[in-house]
Amino acid sequence: MTEISALEDNSQQLVDHQNCNLTALLQKINTKTARVSVIGLGYVGLPFLLEKAKVGLNVIGIDRLSHRVAAVKAGKSYITGIDDAELQQVIASGLVDTTTDYAGLVDADVIVICVPTPLDKNLCPDLQYVVHVAQHIAKYLQRGQLVSLESTTYPGTTQEIIKPILEENGLIAGEDFFLAHSPERVDPGNQRYNTINTNKVVGGNDPQSLIAAEAFYKLAIENVVSVSSAKVAEMVKVFENTYRAVNIALANEMALLCDRMDINVWEVLDAAFTKPFGIMPFYPGPGVGGHCIPVDPHYLEWKAKEFHFQTRFIMLASEINRKMPKFVVDKIARLLNQKQKALNGANVLMLGITYKKDVPDYRESPALIIYELLQRAGVNIGYHDPFVPEIELDGHKIVSMELNSTIVGGADLVLITTAHTTIDYQKIVDQAQIVLDTRNVTKGMQTNKVVLL
Ligand SMILES: NC(=O)c1ccc[n+]([C@@H]2O[C@H](COP(=O)([O-])OP(=O)(O)OC[C@H]3O[C@@H](n4cnc5c(N)ncnc54)[C@H](O)[C@@H]3O)[C@@H](O)[C@H]2O)c1
Repeated sequence: MTEISALEDNSQQLVDHQNCNLTALLQKINTKTARVSVIGLGYVGLPFLLEKAKVGLNVIGIDRLSHRVAAVKAGKSYITGIDDAELQQVIASGLVDTTTDYAGLVDADVIVICVPTPLDKNLCPDLQYVVHVAQHIAKYLQRGQLVSLESTTYPGTTQEIIKPILEENGLIAGEDFFLAHSPERVDPGNQRYNTINTNKVVGGNDPQSLIAAEAFYKLAIENVVSVSSAKVAEMVKVFENTYRAVNIALANEMALLCDRMDINVWEVLDAAFTKPFGIMPFYPGPGVGGHCIPVDPHYLEWKAKEFHFQTRFIMLASEINRKMPKFVVDKIARLLNQKQKALNGANVLMLGITYKKDVPDYRESPALIIYELLQRAGVNIGYHDPFVPEIELDGHKIVSMELNSTIVGGADLVLITTAHTTIDYQKIVDQAQIVLDTRNVTKGMQTNKVVLL
């Protein structure tokens, strides 16, 4: 055999081998006999698990927290938007199991990673959860498996971090197993858009991986948007969240200026958003919170530095958004001052501890920062949040207060930090001495007791 024909022979064998792994996986996906493993059963992972079981796939959920594993088995939901009845119905189908043990990954055809991607204390990416999970997957990785990362991260993570860890097993991505990134876009609490009717972006490590991932995601999602690489898919997600962070910062900056100029920023924005083109509504608030907006842009900012590039919009947006809690505290001080009261010793009732309305999630919530700033200034602060019965701050347990006329009327100022729809704001305004509304939930109320952000 000549050298050229030996090379051709080898490359033909490689193509056959790739095709054989891909064909077998596609066959299982298309006949819905593929077994799916979801790692990380939180806001992203649990809805994902249910969505796949609902289309008839066998799904095993893995979480390091045994109480979450047990709760799912018992049909007890801990995630907003999923009620116990829905969970129990899916569990009753017999298609779902949960465990803390990774050994079951051996039998999976598709493995989906939904673990947290937070920042460390220097605002740098903390990929410890993703790395830990990838190391576990590498131990059990099999030929023909598809591994897909759903966690939000900087462009390059799938190929630069996950791929080498998985390949330590001796298998090659794109040949022996398939690797993709498909960023989750779930919006907890959104009544209109769920994981099925929200377009899903998918990027593969290589063309074969993309084919496998597209086939998998199309099973349960109405519209799959394929992009040319995992890196592009990663960039799509961080761009989306940067877009939100920057536009919220713009609205916040307008609020800071309007405060100085004595202009009602809400009136300005509402009128501006009547323009039917070229503008999208974004509103100011007490700051940004949650697992995405204050976090994800910094993943991109960090990665950009590797290319000697400064993401100035991200830096500026972060600076403005992080200023808002302090601005709220300063405004409270001004309002109390007008009543000849000091912050020190004042009674303030905070309405809402979560970062957005109608969800129980208070991770990175600006309300927590405001709470601490007020406490440090000597304010007697208490909170009410129908979704958060208690919080722990500096090792101290703080319990949500009852809402009654004594508590509301007894506060020198009521601060609205979250626009939960179950609170009767008209009643609050009627009973309160003065209200600082950072969400414009009192819009339309005829009163001189309310001051807007
Ligand atoms: N929450 C959202 O609205 C949202 C939306 C889009 C994307 N995301 C992204 O999705 C990812 C997951 O976010 P989330 O909100 O679901 O997080 P979460 O904290 O709600 O859930 C993560 C789960 O992973 C588990 N976990 C952590 N390490 C593990 C390990 N080594 N093995 C097994 N389980 C492990 C945790 O116990 C937890 O149950 C993040 O990257 C986030 O940025 C979140």
